[in-house]
Amino acid sequence: MQVIRLERVTSTQDFAEAVSEMVDGDFVVVAQEQTKARGRYGREWYSPRGGLWVTYVIKNFNVEEIGISTLKVALSIRNVLSRYVNAKIRWPNDIVINDKKVSGVLLEAITMGERGTGFIGFGVNTNVTSFPQGIVATSLKLELGHEVDNDSLLEQILDKIGGYMVRDTDRIVAELNENLSIAEREVILKGKDWEKRCTALFVDKLGRLVTECGIFEVEEVLRLETP
Ligand code: BTN
Repeated sequence: MQVIRLERVTSTQDFAEAVSEMVDGDFVVVAQEQTKARGRYGREWYSPRGGLWVTYVIKNFNVEEIGISTLKVALSIRNVLSRYVNAKIRWPNDIVINDKKVSGVLLEAITMGERGTGFIGFGVNTNVTSFPQGIVATSLKLELGHEVDNDSLLEQILDKIGGYMVRDTDRIVAELNENLSIAEREVILKGKDWEKRCTALFVDKLGRLVTECGIFEVEEVLRLETP
């Protein structure tokens, strides 16, 4: 698979989208630094040099599977990171170490009917050593005390994604629940104009968070915090 390597770009998502029709088949864009990267809900994503910033483009992508595919990618990353650190999933798809975010996934798609092109963006704070104020995050380097090899990590993650993409949903949801950072814990859920403090229980087969005070869809929760 073709890997396009960039020193600096606004966002690997935007670059991948711009070149998508010029590249045959699936491909990967990886940048050393992003100057205008985005996370879910258009939030900013801090992407200095040192981190692993990637967009994996899948042509002939089933756009109805955006939700479950996002989860599959998050589990792939968690699986690889767990070779080095104790990484868990904070619903819906943050990868955390001791409640500090180490990686996030953003899946966007361009549709042509039922199928389209999937732009799987993921960032891993590998060798990032400090974060702007207000961001509760960590990096592999901060946790391990030494640098990690971004190329090797990328290879391992892409390899895992291939395997997880063909797994069935039941297995995916079971693995998510086995590695859920918030199970049986109090969480603060924030929506557009509401906030609730509940005990999280598990994630159901539709990917919803089941809590003691209700069942929440991924789309309605804009932020989840652990007090
Ligand atoms: C999130 O947790 O909100 C998702 C973060 C996704 C960040 C990655 S870094 C590579 C790709 N390019 C972007 O602009 N965003 C994604």
